[in-house]
Amino acid sequence: MYFIRPYLGWYLIGWVFLILSSSAGLIFPYLMGKLLGSTANMSTSSSESIGLLTMDNATDVAFALFLLFAFQALFSFVRVVIFNNVTENTLRDLRNNAFKKMVFMPMAFFDTNKVGELTSRVSSDITQIQETLRTTIAEFFRQVIIILGGVAFLFMISWKLALIMLGTVPVMAVLAVFFGRFIRRLSKQAQDYAAESNSIIEETLAGISNVKAFTFEKFAIGNYDRKTQEIRNLNVRSGIWRGLFVSFIIFCLFGAIVFIVWQGLLMTQGNNPELSNEGFYQFVLFTIMMGASVGSLPDLYSNIQKTMGATENLMEILNDVEETQMQSGTLSHGIDGSILFKDVNFRYAQRDDVQVLKNVSFSIAQNDKIALVGSSGSGKTTIASLMLNFYSVSAGEIIMNGAPISDYDINYLRSNMAYVPQDVLLFSGSIFENIQFGDPNASKSEVIEAAKKANAWEFISSFPSGLDTEVGDRGIQLSGGQKQRIAIARAILKNPTILILDEATSALDSVSEKLVQEALDILMKDRTSIVIAHRLSTIKKADMILVLENGVVSESGKHKDLMAANGAYAKLVEMQQLDS
Ligand SMILES: Nc1ncnc2c1ncn2[C@@H]1O[C@H](COP(=O)(O)OP(=O)(O)OP(=O)(O)O)[C@@H](O)[C@H]1O
Ligand SMILES: [Mg+2]
Repeated sequence: MYFIRPYLGWYLIGWVFLILSSSAGLIFPYLMGKLLGSTANMSTSSSESIGLLTMDNATDVAFALFLLFAFQALFSFVRVVIFNNVTENTLRDLRNNAFKKMVFMPMAFFDTNKVGELTSRVSSDITQIQETLRTTIAEFFRQVIIILGGVAFLFMISWKLALIMLGTVPVMAVLAVFFGRFIRRLSKQAQDYAAESNSIIEETLAGISNVKAFTFEKFAIGNYDRKTQEIRNLNVRSGIWRGLFVSFIIFCLFGAIVFIVWQGLLMTQGNNPELSNEGFYQFVLFTIMMGASVGSLPDLYSNIQKTMGATENLMEILNDVEETQMQSGTLSHGIDGSILFKDVNFRYAQRDDVQVLKNVSFSIAQNDKIALVGSSGSGKTTIASLMLNFYSVSAGEIIMNGAPISDYDINYLRSNMAYVPQDVLLFSGSIFENIQFGDPNASKSEVIEAAKKANAWEFISSFPSGLDTEVGDRGIQLSGGQKQRIAIARAILKNPTILILDEATSALDSVSEKLVQEALDILMKDRTSIVIAHRLSTIKKADMILVLENGVVSESGKHKDLMAANGAYAKLVEMQQLDS
């Protein structure tokens, strides 16, 4: 795997220790058999030696066993620590890369992937990989080494018994592969359900005020209950299969052991036995040990299979195309605030039956103030998203200072814009951090200056901890108008060439409206501003008003002219004045 590569050296050392400790494990039944055999042989005083060591003294053998355990303990310690370190390093890189990748994904990726599902998917995949890298693979190969070494020893002791033994092992191995696949399919399905159920929790808790206001709790709980029930059923079913499999193997295993012990005992009988007592004990011990190894293989194997599924999932994300790879623009100078929309057509990728923008054309000169008005769903926010190059146009062109926006480096483009969205999101952290977000290099006095210009300083300084007040999940919740002014301070700090403001429809009370409006007037000075406007006061001052209806620009011009024309705009204004 690619992410292990930097730690391959250590990983290989870990493998050496794995092989050492597993091989040492193989000596155990050999010596133990000798120990048991030597006590039995003492009465008959036949002290022939088999194999590498010539020890007919029980004390010597026991001593050798202690030594063996000491070595094995040391090898295993080193192996566990090294594998663990390699795993943790690898996972850190994997986590960082997965997050980096997701952050750089184009907007369309987030339209088609549920955020909750994505995060729980990634974290569960990583946990799966962690377990496997740390222990499962090592364990699997330890068992394989024991089995292979065991077979070799068995042949040394008695080829006849070894053949009997081998008659059962391959059968079980084939069954293991077959069952492993089957169980893997079931558990992958369960993982998918688990990710879905997590996204229910995330969405419900993230929108808890909506949930409570609509007394949606029971419904959400019902949805969740159904999912957890499905997960349970699936896992219960796969548990039964696993259980069946294990018990089947155990049955065969003990059957085989009894059979071999019986055959072996027969061989030790008679005047000229084919097998010595030592050999017999060694054989039995080897067989039991190998039996246990074979029995543990299917679980380990299915675990590795599961991890391969998880790795595939992660790799899909890691190999996905990033925004900057999709858009190869490199131009990093020239944005001056002039914007030209030329016959822009647009559809969202995941809903390509609906044409959201139809032949939208308009031009904005440097430092113009543009108001974008129109009914809900007419495509105003979409136009803002296109200017930020969140999506590529389906047809037509957006040109800034002579160059199509796709020619600009995406970071350069966005660093020249500030976007105050319809629903301001504050990150968990202090108010200071939330404003500094506009310019990470800004000093404290610059942040305060921006807050003052945004008419936010008054309420911020009224808090006991001032700028250091925590907001969001862990801190206080700000009102809609306060959040907006924080976002405006953020934009002031960024000092962009182009300002895009998506005004919230929610009416502010007249005092906050006045404060926000003042802040906006300061912000909009000396730069190109596109305001998706609901406030008549903002609209009246605009150099040009664009009226959008169902994705089409139906009217454009100054307030006075449009009122005189008595068209769609005049109707909108009339309604708003009746409202207020
Ligand atoms: N991410 C998206 N994926 C698919 N369709 C979308 C997406 N965002 C918006 N739309 C659709 O595009 C159309 C225009 O949406 P848009 O958000 O631009 O409207 P809007 O003019 O900003 O409305 P509002 O005044 O309510 O904010 C709507 O029909 C909407 O359903
Ligand atoms: Mg909108």
